Amino acid sequence: MQTKIISVVGARPNFMKIAPLAEAFNQYISKGHSLQHILVHTGQHYDRKMSDSFFEELGIPEAQYNLGVGSGTHAEQVGRTMIEFEKVLMVEKPDWVIVIGDVNATLACSVTAKKLDIKVCHLEAGLRSGDMRMPEEINRIVTDRLSDLLLTPDRISNSNLIAEGVSDDRIQFVGNIMIDTLEKHRNKAGALKIEDIIQRNLLLDESTKHSVDHEFIVVTLHRPSNVDHQENLTALVDFFLQEVVKDTTLIWPIHPRTLQKLKDFDLYDKICKSSNVILLNPVGYFDMLKLNMSAKIILTDSGGLQEESCVLGTPCLTLRMNTERPVTLRENGGASVLVGEDIHKLQAEFNYLKQHQIESKVPELWDGNTAGRCLDAILNYKS
Ligand code: UD1
Repeated sequence: MQTKIISVVGARPNFMKIAPLAEAFNQYISKGHSLQHILVHTGQHYDRKMSDSFFEELGIPEAQYNLGVGSGTHAEQVGRTMIEFEKVLMVEKPDWVIVIGDVNATLACSVTAKKLDIKVCHLEAGLRSGDMRMPEEINRIVTDRLSDLLLTPDRISNSNLIAEGVSDDRIQFVGNIMIDTLEKHRNKAGALKIEDIIQRNLLLDESTKHSVDHEFIVVTLHRPSNVDHQENLTALVDFFLQEVVKDTTLIWPIHPRTLQKLKDFDLYDKICKSSNVILLNPVGYFDMLKLNMSAKIILTDSGGLQEESCVLGTPCLTLRMNTERPVTLRENGGASVLVGEDIHKLQAEFNYLKQHQIESKVPELWDGNTAGRCLDAILNYKS
């Protein structure tokens, strides 16, 4: 009998994770497995640069359904997704729904599927920051509580789930699927030129040609805890302008929410005046990979970049108080240090990294072969 599986994506960090899974589905189908794969995009991220460009670059097949949910409050996004996703489930009646990561689509679609008695598989299960002020933490906890099959990226996540009482037979350690995408494309990205990346992504139309012939720093910020509070965002911008750009160039691809906040808090013009800050639109996957692998240091609040920098060996200062990805931290062999909202710690770690090399090791099973392990886990599932 054919197994029908719906995978759901909603926001940018999902796209690099669905690409290898969709490819694995096609390979399994061509090898004779009786599978049907349907891709649903909730439409939470809808800008070309936040969504379509990833589908094109990574060769992700077009979603059969786009729920057109768009921006809004969390309740609006989750509510609209549930209403629209339920209609898809009633028509398609799948055997499984696969939800990925910790975005609003993950929560909305796991709840909707479970209420219709459809099996749910959570890919990237078991991550915990312990910080209930993060919407993603709520999404992770609810999704893991409901899921039938929990596929984890590292062994710490297995321990988190066991500690919460999840039975061992529902958990499988498969590794980090995003690293499948990284390994597939790292040579292609490596061949790109930084100057070209800057030119094609410049936020402002500028006649000046930027050349970066020396070390540069990359920053990305989008978490509400950093960008929604004027005091925090101002302190970070002051640090960038007073410390970071003293003797290096700062390349900053800006998330739409952050751009809006910089304007709201009157910080944007100040940044534009600095000739050592290069502001970019949100960049595509290959461009970001090249920026990450070439940067002297990356400053970020993104979980995905924290993981990628760990594999690439790029020193990463994580601008958060906590992380759901402790496997990436320097004390666990990774490349990342949590600097929280402490500007003095940020300053000290930044100065240390300017002078010192660090070694980082690639976590277990972050080997580029996670997608196949995910499909095997689903196909071998015994309820
Ligand atoms: C979402 C995820 C977050 C992930 C991040 C990566 C949740 C709870 N959060 O946060 O985990 O790290 O994506 O980007 O799901 N906007 C656009 N164009 C778009 C999408 C958004 O302009 O295509 C703007 C809108 O003004 C929107 C704001 O960005 O209100 C924030 O977008 P939203 O989808 O609410 O959350 P993210 O901050 O992107």
